[in-house]
Amino acid sequence: MTPQDGNLLRVSGLCKHFFGIRAVNDLNFGVAAGSITGLIGPNGSGKTTSIDCLSGFQRPDTGKVVFDGADIFGLPPQRVAKCGLVRTFQNVRVYDALTVSENLVIAQQEHGRGMRWRDVLFRPQRIRRQDDAARERAQALLELVGLSHHIASPAGVLSYGQKKLLALAGGLMASPKLMVLDEPLAGVNPTVIRRIEGIVHEVNRQGVTFLIVEHNMTFIMNHCNAIVVMDAGSKLAEGSPDVISSDARVLDAYLGKRPIAEASHG
Ligand SMILES: Nc1ncnc2c1ncn2[C@@H]1O[C@H](COP(=O)(O)OP(=O)(O)O)[C@@H](O)[C@H]1O
Ligand SMILES: [Mg+2]
Repeated sequence: MTPQDGNLLRVSGLCKHFFGIRAVNDLNFGVAAGSITGLIGPNGSGKTTSIDCLSGFQRPDTGKVVFDGADIFGLPPQRVAKCGLVRTFQNVRVYDALTVSENLVIAQQEHGRGMRWRDVLFRPQRIRRQDDAARERAQALLELVGLSHHIASPAGVLSYGQKKLLALAGGLMASPKLMVLDEPLAGVNPTVIRRIEGIVHEVNRQGVTFLIVEHNMTFIMNHCNAIVVMDAGSKLAEGSPDVISSDARVLDAYLGKRPIAEASHG
């Protein structure tokens, strides 16, 4: 059930520091159910740390994270994923020695059923015993991302862009409600960019909400219906692409003038 305010995800007062660095500093924002929300900001503004904290890959210091009506603050990644919040990584993570379809089955187990590294290393037969439902879902997702002809290839033969598509399909194996993507377009060619755009829209049409960290402004402005801008660990602005593109503070943050962020440095 969607919470009353229409937000599938609501982040309030989120803080995370590393030694002296306040990577995330009193961050507040929401992700509307059904939206494609962009999370942008200069390098080092705290985007990755924020989604690490939401998805359980970093333990946040303080704040509140409510997802689909449940308090998920500080939960470990697998528990967060079981609630329906799944993320991909800035640096693509696939198992090169396993086949494309095996990667998808593992991704589903990692997100949903407690598969760990030691299973991958010591119990490969457990991974290979794919149940029919997982195999069918994997096949459908590989068709969606355009990798079905590679189903039996080791993931190691894929190009970087194809590995990103595989990682995206891996996240979708867990049937998320919210898919969080960290720089999905970084380092991929225009053909793969167009494919990822198509996949995001198709999956969104099927009811999945997206939160996307991305530096490609053409993508953000053309494909997101809401944008959150971070600077120095906090939210600088939030709104539609039209509102954000005409906000002088956003341009200033990207140009490095940082008139507002200055005050929040500790
Ligand atoms: N594991 C870490 N240890 C120490 N500092 C970190 C760590 N991760 C991120 N930071 C720092 O936190 C700040 C925010 O980084 P990050 O969240 O990666 O920004 P972005 O994704 O917006 O580029 C940066 O100053 C970065 O150097
Ligand atoms: Mg980052």
